[in-house]
Order: sequence, then C-alpha cells, then structure tokens
Amino acid sequence: MNIIFLGPPGAGKGTQAQLLTKELGIPQISTGDMLRKAMREGTKTGLEAKRYVESGGLVPDEVVIAIVKERLAEDDCKNGYMLDGFPRTVFQAEELAKFAKIDVAVDLDLPDEVIVERLSGRRVCPNCNATYHVSQLGGSTVCKNCGAELIQRKDDSEETIRNRLKVYTEQTAPLIDYYRRQGILRTVDCQGTVEENFALVKRALEA
Ligand code: AP5
Repeated sequence: MNIIFLGPPGAGKGTQAQLLTKELGIPQISTGDMLRKAMREGTKTGLEAKRYVESGGLVPDEVVIAIVKERLAEDDCKNGYMLDGFPRTVFQAEELAKFAKIDVAVDLDLPDEVIVERLSGRRVCPNCNATYHVSQLGGSTVCKNCGAELIQRKDDSEETIRNRLKVYTEQTAPLIDYYRRQGILRTVDCQGTVEENFALVKRALEA
C-alpha cells in the first residue's frame, strides 16, 4: 500500500508513520528528515534547503521532487511506503502522480492551539529520528532507542511554528480537496493520545 500522511506541522505525521512502519514493515519517507540529514551533512541539497527549513518556508518544488523520486526507486519501496511531509503543494502532488500510484491519503487533523503546545515541547533524536514530547521523557534528555542526546529542532520556536502554520494553510491545505476529489482521502481527528490516534489511523486505512 502506498500511503500519504497529510496534516499541519505537529499533527503527528512522523509519530504515526513510525508506528505504522513497525506494524506494516514498509518504509517511512519523510522529506523533512531527508532535508535535515542533508543539512547536517552539508550536501548541495542541504545547503540549498537550509534557509527555507529554518524559517519555516517550503523548499523549492524541484529540489524535493527530485529527492522523493530517487528515494521511491529504491528496493525497499517495492512493497509500499508512507510519504510523510510530501507532497506539500498541488504542483508536487501532480508531479508525484507521474511516477507513483497513491492508494490512500490520510489527513491528520488538529487545531492550531494544540499544535503550538506539541511542537514547542518536541524533542528529536538526531541519530535515529525518534520523536518525543517533553511530557513523555520524565526529565530524561536521551533517546530511548539509541541513547543519543535529544535535540530541539531549530524550526520549533513559537515564531517559526506560526509561519509554518501560515505556509501550511496557504500552500498545503488545498491538497485535502485535491485527494478528496480523487476519492482516496481519509480524515482522522488527532486530538487523542498517540495510541488512540494510531487505532483511528489503522481503521482509516482498512476502510
Ligand atoms: P517536516 O519535518 O515535514 O515538518 P512538518 O510537516 O512541519 O511536520 P512535523 O515534523 O513538525 O510534525 P509531525 O506532523 O510529523 O508531528 P510529530 O509526529 O513530530 O518539514 C520541515 C521543513 O522541511 C518544512 O518546514 C519545509 O521547510 C521542509 N520540507 C519538508 N518537506 C517539504 C516538501 N515536501 N516541500 C517543501 N519543503 C519541505 O509530532 C509533533 C509533537 O507532538 C512531538 O513532540 C510528538 O511527540 C507529539 N505528539 C504526537 N502525537 C501526539 C499525541 N497524540 N498527543 C500528544 N503529543 C503528541
């Protein structure tokens, strides 16, 4: 099954995709994770992406489309994959349709005020990309999977979160109608716990 996770920043796309990877055995393809890795490694893509990612704007379409196209051609995508954070514009969706067949688009829905609280408390592992909220860590500052020191993403400051929400509303939210028109949209209300939301996501995929 080829799945897209849609939804505003902080809705839980990465959290749910990581759980689903364990359950379905198909890879999570996060353009945000790929861009941050390229930035850490100082590659040409990373240098090009840096100013957009750190300000909460969108990296140019041609850059992200190229990295997704290359990634989907890898062997581990043959039996399905989950796209997390891509597409993010109607143009990206139209280009994706030229090289991939998407079965379902799951839209994770969450009000803005909850988003700001979730993102400002997020901590991530720079080594294995595991995601936590400070409320789950009990004061610990290390990753439960690999022991690396957790970090706060630069774009998780309140000002940048507000910009990301604006960019989402203007450029990404139109994808909800785009996939609804194709008859493959499933909407999940993500105000519950991680486990409650995971049950709703699985139910949406079975529908
Ligand atoms: P990206 O990394 O994709 O960021 P995003 O879309 O803003 O999404 P997030 O990763 O912030 O949130 P999420 O929905 O995955 O939530 P999470 O599970 O972490 O992109 C970053 C940047 O890269 C973009 O701004 C852009 O510049 C660039 N980019 C990426 N893709 C691009 C593209 N296609 N085109 C152009 N540019 C692109 O959860 C958030 C927090 O909430 C965590 O702390 C988590 O532990 C917690 N949490 C999750 N679920 C729950 C719950 N049920 N209850 C309580 N806490 C919860």
